[in-house]
Amino acid sequence: MRFLALAWLVLVPRLVHAQAPSVEPGRALFTGERPLSGGGPPCGACHALAGDGLALSANLGPALSSLAGVDPSAIEGLLEDLPFPTMTPLYAGRPLAPEERTALAAYLAAAAERGAPAPGARLVVLGAAGAGLVLAVIGLAGRRRTRSSRARILAGANTIPGGHR
Ligand code: HEC
Repeated sequence: MRFLALAWLVLVPRLVHAQAPSVEPGRALFTGERPLSGGGPPCGACHALAGDGLALSANLGPALSSLAGVDPSAIEGLLEDLPFPTMTPLYAGRPLAPEERTALAAYLAAAAERGAPAPGARLVVLGAAGAGLVLAVIGLAGRRRTRSSRARILAGANTIPGGHR
């Protein structure tokens, strides 16, 4: 048991560190946190991948979990040619820089392995957020109404003989 705990303490930070540097720059480019140097739109505007991308649910383009198992160098080649009708005109005058293709390919390959979040999970999150919003609006509207009607009744009570408190 103690051995397991030790192994966990030693291994986990290494694994995290081993992954973080190679994947993070690509993730930032994908989500648009870091703009593409050529001025092209961020991939996450149209593609969802492993929960990254606009509002977890960008879906003009296919979910890129289809890239699972594809070699990063093959993905890099794809990003150079971009043989996809919807994307070609957008990136025609705005090519990806070579280091951006490398960073994106590393991120795409790793994230595709993680896969897309289950649609069920996404619905639960959106449903909970929506319910929270509705409750908050009802709460606010209700609070305002109770206050003003109470004030009105109290003000009215002052004009009724014997009604003063
Ligand atoms: C304007 C929306 C849009 C943007 C931005 C975009 N894509 Fe796409 N992408 C698409 C569409 C739509 C397809 C499906 C083929 C088509 O209709 O062109 C596609 C297809 C792909 C495919 C092939 C996937 C498959 O399973 O066939 C890959 C890989 C890909 N895109 C990667 C990227 C990367 C990486 C970026 C960012 C540099 C990006 N895309 C930006 C819309 C977009």
